[in-house]
Amino acid sequence: MTNPSLLILPGDGIGPEVMAEVRKIIDWFGTKRDLAFDVSEGLVGGCSYDAHGTPLTDETMELAQSVDAVLLGAVGGPKYDNLDFSVKPERGLLRLRKEMDLFANLRPAQCFDALADFSSLKRDVVAGLDIMIVRELTSGIYFGEPRGIFEEGNERVGINTQRYTESEIERVARSAFELARRRGNKVCSMEKANVMESGVLWREVVQKVHDEEYPDVELSHMYADAGAMQLCRWPKQFDVIVTDNLFGDLLSDAAAMLTGSLGMLPSASLGAPMANGRPKALYEPVHGSAPDIAGQGKANPIACILSFAMALRYSFDLGDEADRLEAAVEKVLADGLRTADLLGEEGVTPVSTSEMGDAVVAALDASV
Ligand code: IPM
Ligand code: MG
Repeated sequence: MTNPSLLILPGDGIGPEVMAEVRKIIDWFGTKRDLAFDVSEGLVGGCSYDAHGTPLTDETMELAQSVDAVLLGAVGGPKYDNLDFSVKPERGLLRLRKEMDLFANLRPAQCFDALADFSSLKRDVVAGLDIMIVRELTSGIYFGEPRGIFEEGNERVGINTQRYTESEIERVARSAFELARRRGNKVCSMEKANVMESGVLWREVVQKVHDEEYPDVELSHMYADAGAMQLCRWPKQFDVIVTDNLFGDLLSDAAAMLTGSLGMLPSASLGAPMANGRPKALYEPVHGSAPDIAGQGKANPIACILSFAMALRYSFDLGDEADRLEAAVEKVLADGLRTADLLGEEGVTPVSTSEMGDAVVAALDASV
């Protein structure tokens, strides 16, 4: 039997630093759990532009299509701000999402007990929070045509188009209902059916998928603006939230901050099943490339480590090992170890990026 394959794309900014810690974890599973992965590595984003003049080469795209899972660090940086839109670092990430057809983006917002005081909200509002945002990732206004900046009379007009087909809504709704069944059995769908036709269709289709296939799951609908408000007011009312690409981008950042630190949150982007029955998949931390702190040992590797835990769970059917890794992270936090993004409390131990990775490995060692 061949080992499962993993393509690592560290990217820009803090991406390579946090990914170096994930490699320690991957090695640990190889040596201590006899779970070896065939790991290859490639470039994406600004570093790929620097080397090849494009944020993602066709070769790397092909490699991504052929592996069992892709693990990505982060892309972008001020150095690339003035590049033409078509070669900006972000286009590399968007191409991966689109060509791998990763339509369901899972963004958990989970509050670690040790960090509840880091939230800008009161402890009792966020303690124990565990919600999952399912964001549609390959359609909507991010990709709809027409798009561009055009001349119109004596001025220019900027155009983007929100567009959703029924089948695009159906498949992401199914992902949300399936997940809900394995969690709190509740889905809240968010759109703006009060002002957007695409929102009217979204609501109808989600309701239909529910009634025909998932009547056992509790379904509610909310306008996305009200949803944002409710997320801040009482986030624990939610279990799974399903929403479109743009609203999901905004709501997942808001939800992430509820938990106290963007540096803690992983994500999975899943597509249709491959020949082996597993979904096409890309895993990445929710945080960006944080160029301001790159190379200083300040970055928090936990979001990227937890993204690998999601890979264990969703791509490799290793839910128990994912639990083990998540528990190791929780242990390290409970022990008071904190990277620079989480300093400020009394009695905590400041650690660097690589010391945090080492501590997670030590906690894994203690778990077997
Ligand atoms: C995200 C990011 C991306 C997005 C950018 C980097 C293209 O904000 O993953 O949430 O807008 O989808
Ligand atoms: Mg975003």
